[in-house]
Amino acid sequence: MRPVETGRYLVTGGAGFIGTNFVHECLRRHPQAQVTVLDKLTYAGNPRNLDPVRNDPRFRFVQGDIADAAIVEPLIAEGFDFVINFAAETHVDRSIGDPASFVKTDVFGVYTLLEAVRKHPVSLFVQISTDEVYGEILDGAATEQSPLLPRNPYSASKAGGDRLAYSYWATYDIPVAITRCSNNYGPYQYPEKLVPLFVTNALQGEKLPVYGSGKNTRDWIHALDHVNAIFHILAADGVEGEVWNIGAENERSVLEIGGELLRLLGKTDALLASVVDRPGHDRRYAVDSSKLRAKTGWKCEVPFEQGLAETVRWYEENADWWRPLKSGEFLDYYKRNYKFL
Ligand code: NAD
Ligand code: DAU
Repeated sequence: MRPVETGRYLVTGGAGFIGTNFVHECLRRHPQAQVTVLDKLTYAGNPRNLDPVRNDPRFRFVQGDIADAAIVEPLIAEGFDFVINFAAETHVDRSIGDPASFVKTDVFGVYTLLEAVRKHPVSLFVQISTDEVYGEILDGAATEQSPLLPRNPYSASKAGGDRLAYSYWATYDIPVAITRCSNNYGPYQYPEKLVPLFVTNALQGEKLPVYGSGKNTRDWIHALDHVNAIFHILAADGVEGEVWNIGAENERSVLEIGGELLRLLGKTDALLASVVDRPGHDRRYAVDSSKLRAKTGWKCEVPFEQGLAETVRWYEENADWWRPLKSGEFLDYYKRNYKFL
């Protein structure tokens, strides 16, 4: 039995979207757990996300790069039960403009963490990979046995980190589990991704940029259902050396998501606007998570309509969180990235 309730957790990327939700939930669920966050605080990392736990004696924040062995090695030498690696460059559009930082963090950063764990053993290292490593799935759903066919620099870098983590299990017997989750939505998501970009643009009276036909589909899962799946994996036997798909079987197109968000905000579809398509835009992702459900009993608990409505409300009520993010470098990126038709 791994010490899920009393464990010492190192959460890399814990100032980002899913990492933040994991940290909050870990400390809420497990009064005896201790959580250290290691985060570089890139544009996507926000120290304010951790304000609700900052003064908790069970929590500690360390600023640093997972690709920097001089920081990672002594930190992991302190002793952890779990390393959960959320840290990554995560936005597909940015990876198309600048792949270098993706290779550095999403491949070399994973290597640096794995090397430290090789010297200082942990109970479980969880590599948070992504369903994008399968590439576009035009029919059915990818199982953990499906071939990997990443098609953009983000997903290719994530596939590198994913397989590197596996190799440390196969070669050095490091206890590694790899997760491949579908598209998350929820509070604290940086407003470059579809749901928070569309909600905040609509709140600002701006157009919602739809790539291509708007018919590309994703499987949308609430971040707390993803976090819950990770806790199920931490607690289960026999997860080492295995890949775990995590999905909600909740497939929606961009136009469906956009329409639903506008309805929730009391706005019309007139705000939807076509932009030049993302190069190599994957048509569809879909994963089969029956292996995880059968092994651990996990299932999705947040109904999509409720989760989306609560998420919209969160952005409405937390304009002081996202407004400052939609300025400076973000606006330069936004102008560079989108060509309205
Ligand atoms: P995010 O971009 O919101 O957060 C990433 C965090 O990592 C930020 O806090 C950032 O500062 C930090 N970071 C980046 N580079 C770092 C480095 N070199 N060293 C230390 N910290 C660094 O990302 P997210 O959406 O929360 O995604 C978290 C993880 O989940 C990623 O590994 C991503 O690939 C994976 N994932 C995300 C989704 C999704 O829908 N968002 C779905 C499946 C998998
Ligand atoms: O599938 C999991 C992946 O989901 C994660 O690994 C990534 O980190 C995460 O960013 C996400 O990748 P996507 O590329 O699917 O997410 P994004 O929110 O960028 O886009 C979702 C869909 O919406 C996609 O079909 C592109 C479209 N889109 C996106 C944006 C930001 C638009 O049409 N307009 C937009 O402005």
